[in-house]
Amino acid sequence: MNLKGRTALVTGASSGIGVSFARQLAAAGAQLILTARRKDRLDALADELRAAHGIEVTTIALDLGTADAPKALFDATEGAGKPVDVLINNAGFGTQERFDRMPWAKANEQIQLNVVSLTELTHRFVGPMIERGRGHVLNVASIGAYMPVPWYATYGAGKAYVRNFTEAVAAELAKTEVRVCCLCPGGTKTEFLDVSGQKSDWLVEASMMSADRCAKIGLRALFGGRRNIISGWSNSLMCWSLRFVPRRIATWIAGRIMGKREA
Ligand SMILES: NC(=O)c1ccc[n+]([C@@H]2O[C@H](COP(=O)([O-])OP(=O)(O)OC[C@H]3O[C@@H](n4cnc5c(N)ncnc54)[C@H](OP(=O)(O)O)[C@@H]3O)[C@@H](O)[C@H]2O)c1
Repeated sequence: MNLKGRTALVTGASSGIGVSFARQLAAAGAQLILTARRKDRLDALADELRAAHGIEVTTIALDLGTADAPKALFDATEGAGKPVDVLINNAGFGTQERFDRMPWAKANEQIQLNVVSLTELTHRFVGPMIERGRGHVLNVASIGAYMPVPWYATYGAGKAYVRNFTEAVAAELAKTEVRVCCLCPGGTKTEFLDVSGQKSDWLVEASMMSADRCAKIGLRALFGGRRNIISGWSNSLMCWSLRFVPRRIATWIAGRIMGKREA
């Protein structure tokens, strides 16, 4: 990967897989625009990457769980004359909760962030990429995209949307110079479970992939021209096997893995 002279925008760059994307894109020579809500973390990462790679890094604190944020992000970057060559739509969160007990404001914020903002950012940024004749977009979904996920109903459904949306746009743009790819991570060591409220155990911990490895798989797939990639062979095998399992059984399995034990 040689991204010298290119600019990459990473959402959710204050933690987890987003930090790994930022570090790997910086190592490839890209200039970076990093966004998330926690500005202190973004600024600390920006200092680290400027010192390590001598690249330009801009940080933008923004809540992408709000409806106006995608336009604000576009206006502050591409719209302000700073072309974005690589867009990594990574920001996202899940909540482990029975759907009816989840406060609507939380569900709404999650759908806005994981689905609507991702879609709007893709829409806003691919147009200029097509005009310039180059560009890459990586949308982060989840292996939850492959099955209904009880206790994460809106999260899993949103990720299924991200996967289908991304593969459809990738097909539409096949004859342009813009590549669009979906990354479906399985369990990855990040702050995801702290945010979702799901208790971890040694088995879950042992089966988790590092954020660095997950980001590497995603970037390799994106720049290799893939339309979809699942992180790791065991996750790939599991998703592939689900084709042969009745949906009711697949839903039961997902609920056993992701569900609240006391429920
Ligand atoms: N870890 C896993 O096991 C796993 C599995 C499958 C898929 N994924 C997906 O991977 C992506 C990255 O998650 P992660 O695992 O790295 O989790 P993480 O460590 O919790 O990072 C999530 C990132 O999203 C940002 N974010 C959350 N809410 C936001 C908001 N309202 N506005 C702007 N940014 C927001 C966070 O920054 P701030 O809090 O500073 O805003 C943070 O930088 C997500 O799309 C997630 O669904 C993760």
